[in-house]
Amino acid sequence: MDSLQELEHQRRTLQNSSNADRQHAKGKITADERLAYLFDKDTFIELNVYQNRGQSIDKPPKRDGVIAGFGKINGRYAYAYAQDFTIQGGSLSSSNARKIIKCQQAALKAGAPIIGLMDSGGAKIQDGIQALAQYGTIFQNNVNASGVIPQITAIMGPCAGGASYSPALQDFIFFVEGTGEMFVTGPDVVKEVIGEDITMQELGGADVHMRKNGVAHVRAANDQDCLDKIRNLLTYLPQNNKSLPIPRTKYKSRWQRGIENIVPENKRKIYDVKQVIDYLVDTDSLFEIEPEFAANVVTCFARVNGHTIGVVANQPAVISGCMDVNASCKAARFVRTCDCFNIPLLTLVDVPGFFPGSDQEYSGIIRHGAKVLYAYSEATVPKITLVLRKAYGGAYIAMCCKQLGADVCWAWPTAEIAVMGAEGAVKIINRKDLKAAGDDYKKVLDEKVKAYQDTQLNPFVGAKLGYIDDVIAPQDTRRLLEQTLEALISFQDPKTKPTHGNIPL
Ligand code: HXC
Repeated sequence: MDSLQELEHQRRTLQNSSNADRQHAKGKITADERLAYLFDKDTFIELNVYQNRGQSIDKPPKRDGVIAGFGKINGRYAYAYAQDFTIQGGSLSSSNARKIIKCQQAALKAGAPIIGLMDSGGAKIQDGIQALAQYGTIFQNNVNASGVIPQITAIMGPCAGGASYSPALQDFIFFVEGTGEMFVTGPDVVKEVIGEDITMQELGGADVHMRKNGVAHVRAANDQDCLDKIRNLLTYLPQNNKSLPIPRTKYKSRWQRGIENIVPENKRKIYDVKQVIDYLVDTDSLFEIEPEFAANVVTCFARVNGHTIGVVANQPAVISGCMDVNASCKAARFVRTCDCFNIPLLTLVDVPGFFPGSDQEYSGIIRHGAKVLYAYSEATVPKITLVLRKAYGGAYIAMCCKQLGADVCWAWPTAEIAVMGAEGAVKIINRKDLKAAGDDYKKVLDEKVKAYQDTQLNPFVGAKLGYIDDVIAPQDTRRLLEQTLEALISFQDPKTKPTHGNIPL
């Protein structure tokens, strides 16, 4: 064999050294297969193929437990690393950590997104403090890149211990159900320390992180589904915080007739706000983030005339769309993510208020609710707010009212903007009259409620005061949205816009 052939042979041997059968038996594809699937065909270029600590120079090289490199996804450059569980459980050796670190630094320098495919038993136990120390550098790099380039992680196998904090520092976590497992302390330690018997899936499976705690953002049925969804998400994002998302040139929108029938006039009736979103955005463009967690607020990417937007909408179908601790954290993080990546925000408001009660107060609704106010006030991307129906109290303000910097604030004729709903308000401000009404209590109450509704609860009060820019018909909303967004996007200049990191909230 001449030296070039030998080189090629060595490379092929290395690149085929993972134990595919073992991986496939667990319902997973290998690290190589994942990267080949993630990137456009034949575009992935591996870096540091030979790097493996502890290999003596005269022996054939062995592959380390991570593959890192770059290539094209949807025709645009991105960096990625994939942990190879078939090599020492994908555990993070000091050597393979350095591959990840170099990949992170290269992505940041290039201003390109980075994707980490996690499948690992955590720090390589044999490497002790050397592995731990490298985690520190990985975390530091995550923070350096935060809000600068999109950082995406997929949990495709175990992600144990402190290793789980690297995904948590990133913008989006995808989670493969069945095989993804993520926890700070595993079942054995849990059993030992607090005596709790619990399985890995019960402790850190997809249901836990998608539904219960909101750690993960997108659920996937299997590896391929996960990688398809990551490719799709990238189409909504810019390469970095100094560029705009690339608009789609082909798009379709719905016939708008029928949109006026979705929101019931009866304030007590519920509806699904996703139907409203569906009418307003391009056909099949909705990409929901955290759909299962705090479903009382909907956060999603979508497109209008091909342009990416971020939508935040109260969901009346879940606890009447009240804002609570979890919904506040979810909405605030999404707003900040959009602001980092120059994505205009559309806020749809139908909110009776912050959820009352000791449970919420003890959980810090004041502290968490303030995150929403902070995020909207800080955001300098185009902001459009549309009040669909109820907009009461502090929650009206928190959902991006004019004074929090909404560029445009519209209301539908069904909108009610007030400190609180009619009956509650009347019972407070007319307490004496109602007490004196005796047997006529119901009659007096109804009269007072009607008077309050006529004078306070209609959108023209806010419009006259200039807090609402216009009261618009539902059927006209899409057209106005297209025109307004087009204008606001044309004013955007990502090069001079203030920047900030995307701290987990
Ligand atoms: C070295 C490891 C390893 C590790 C797994 N392996 N984890 N080697 N360091 N951390 C090796 C195993 O010895 C085995 O090698 C192979 O990988 C596959 O592991 P199995 O246990 O056979 O696989 P499985 O039954 O699927 O179980 C996977 C697992 C389990 C759940 C991940 O291996 C496990 O619990 N590992 C330890 C997890 C952990 O506690 N890690 C430390 C977390 S703390 P062979 O040669 O037999 O194939 C941490 C600190 C980070 O990471 C701090 C950051 C600040």
